[in-house]
Amino acid sequence: MQRLTNKQIILGITGGIAAYKSAELTRLLKTAGADVRVVMTASATEFITPLTLQALSGHPVHQHLLDPESEAGMGHIELAKWADLILIAPASANFIARMASGQGNDLLTTLCLATDAPICLAPAMNQAMWRDTGTQENVARLQQRAISIFGPGSGEQACGDTGPGRMLEPTELARLTANQFSSHSLTGKTVYITAGPTREALDPVRYISNHSSGKMGYALAEAAIEAGARVKLISGPVNLPAPARVDRVSVESAEEMLQASLKDIEQCDIFIAAAAVADYRPTAVAEHKIKKGSEEIMELHLVKNPDIVATVAGLEDKPFTVGFAAETQDVLAYARGKLERKKLDLIIANDVSRSDIGFNSDENAVTVISATEADTLPQASKRQLAVRLIERIAAQYQASLTTSDLTE
Ligand code: PMT
Repeated sequence: MQRLTNKQIILGITGGIAAYKSAELTRLLKTAGADVRVVMTASATEFITPLTLQALSGHPVHQHLLDPESEAGMGHIELAKWADLILIAPASANFIARMASGQGNDLLTTLCLATDAPICLAPAMNQAMWRDTGTQENVARLQQRAISIFGPGSGEQACGDTGPGRMLEPTELARLTANQFSSHSLTGKTVYITAGPTREALDPVRYISNHSSGKMGYALAEAAIEAGARVKLISGPVNLPAPARVDRVSVESAEEMLQASLKDIEQCDIFIAAAAVADYRPTAVAEHKIKKGSEEIMELHLVKNPDIVATVAGLEDKPFTVGFAAETQDVLAYARGKLERKKLDLIIANDVSRSDIGFNSDENAVTVISATEADTLPQASKRQLAVRLIERIAAQYQASLTTSDLTE
């Protein structure tokens, strides 16, 4: 269940007797470390009160699409982007039909249309309704759209019938939800990730640095762990806790980041450079605090820092090497230049002139560039993007192994 730690889950509850089990499901997801926001349809509130779910989830329950108060708090589009996963449990026959026909006539269906997070449904209904051809066709349509269907189970039903249509038990639903977060695409692989800024000291109390928060690199570390990798996170000074199961090495300067990156580099299969490394450092670090003089202008002498990702990519037995390109103009052209000059396998370009993405924001939008392709991933939370980026990096890494096998 560790895979649910810090995951942002929307639990959708629709009208059905199994809605009472959603209280226990909320508790289990929360205990496993997920942040849960509950969305209820109007008929769900006939079976269980929003107050119960609010108490268990720790957040107000979202119920209405056009509620000014909710929209002012977290609007429906924001909520759709916030989610790492939407789980609808119980999903009634009516809800499944509305979703299959692409409707957006209440908050929950609208969220499903607006999100790019995975969606999972736990059907719950009478056995005859489940067996009905219309329901089966609707379920098949949803499965074609890559929506996961959990269950249903079979057995005695609230109405007295026996057969398929029972919602799976909350423990089973929590387990299946956790499984959604692991792809195993990096099982047995070792991934090094640089993250955050570097600090280049001028004197004992001052330094040159930048606005990197480390969020992008840390999200990549979490996603790589979830994909089964062993992760060394070489981190500049940031205000983030070390992700679970990650080996974090804390550094300050570019020189320290280089040394930590090269340590045991022969064990590294994939190297991802998400850090914003200072290109220059002062030629000398003053032993004592530099005193303010009478001059109006002070000159600083800087010397170029080593290029960490280019050094790694230049090694004889180099790992699969991925860089980031932080650009403010001609983003793709400059990124392609860096891909070639630094001899990288992939570069991930982001526009750092925007305040809503890039440096120190919770979201990003990137283009993944290889020698032959460019693939744009639209704006999303850094955590969601990281999962997609790790899957692409893993796929390209596997492809590179196949190519080198063929050429040997
Ligand atoms: O940390 P966040 O607030 O979440 O912000 C994320 C980010 C914007 C910092 C991240 O997405 C990003 O773009 N990181 C790279 C920033 C950068 O320094 O880009 P660059 O275009 O200057 O460098 C190109 C590549 O060379 C990068 O992979 C960089 O890590 C690497 N580099 C640069 C200089 C140097 N001396 N050594 C390096 O390894």
